[in-house]
Amino acid sequence: MSTVVPPLPYRVAGTRAETADTRSIELAPVGRELPSFAPGQFAMIYAFGVGEVPISASALRGRHGGLVHTVRAVGAVSTALYRMRPGDTVGLSGPYGTGWDLDAAVGHDVLVIAGGIGLAPLRPVVQAVLDRPAAYGRLAVLVGARTPADLVYRDEIESWRDPARVEVTVDRPGPGWHGAVGVVTTLLDRLDLRPERTCAFVCGPEVMMRHTARALLARGLASQRVQVSLERNMHCATGHCGHCQLGPLLLCRDGPVVGYDRVAQLLLVREL
Ligand SMILES: Cc1cc2nc3c(=O)[nH]c(=O)nc-3n(C[C@H](O)[C@H](O)[C@H](O)COP(=O)(O)OP(=O)(O)OC[C@H]3O[C@@H](n4cnc5c(N)ncnc54)[C@H](O)[C@@H]3O)c2cc1C
Ligand code: FES
Repeated sequence: MSTVVPPLPYRVAGTRAETADTRSIELAPVGRELPSFAPGQFAMIYAFGVGEVPISASALRGRHGGLVHTVRAVGAVSTALYRMRPGDTVGLSGPYGTGWDLDAAVGHDVLVIAGGIGLAPLRPVVQAVLDRPAAYGRLAVLVGARTPADLVYRDEIESWRDPARVEVTVDRPGPGWHGAVGVVTTLLDRLDLRPERTCAFVCGPEVMMRHTARALLARGLASQRVQVSLERNMHCATGHCGHCQLGPLLLCRDGPVVGYDRVAQLLLVREL
């Protein structure tokens, strides 16, 4: 069960523009601090007077030592968070939900596959593997974005190239783009995948996760070795309101990270 903590005031310690509509905000406690977040867990962030939304931790420790969230402005609350500047205050509660099961990947090759802002909750996974290289096998990171301008964490992705295998693709290339073009699953063909000893961590639009998981299974990965992070509308984040239901699962409590073996059938049913 998630740790339930009332919203606490957090101050924006720093911000970083990632793309034209996406910004990372680093948050530091004004007083009392929330318990530590694990990679994959999310916070409910309250923009005062606007509303509250679930946002994953995109780094557990930023440049100022605070928790980092990367927000894409799609509606009222996310736009209010996107516009935050150092010194502004938000309400923060959490950590909520399940994290990526990194223990399951110890001794295995780690394959991270992200679509768009889906790289945000996966960034702490990459960091955790880079921090403990001896604990894991090979690390590969596959990233897909709509256009080159939609790529988040560009510089950081470059810094992962040694020691990780990093491949990036875009749906629509722009001027000056000399990299791969196509959906992220096409990058799998570039890897020397060892399916029997690989754990995959996947996050992105749901259709991308479905196709990616199927492509991994077709290459011999067991479905329980594929973890996905799912999004549904969330209100309470504590397993009480039912807004985030997916079949028998409440994704704020039983997710957002789940084994693909648990949700493959459920994902065939469209969200109501
Ligand atoms: C567990 C979890 C973790 C999340 N982590 C992140 C994160 O790290 N970064 C982040 O930016 N967002 C994340 N989200 C999504 C984020 O919560 C929503 O974008 C946000 O709730 C939208 O609220 P709003 O009031 O800004 O927009 P709303 O008014 O709710 O929505 C405005 C419009 O945008 C559409 N919309 C809503 N959500 C999305 C979306 N995710 N993508 C595209 N269109 C959308 C709606 O259908 C609507 O048309 C996460 C969601 C969940 C459930
Ligand atoms: S948001 Fe999951 S039960 Fe309320």
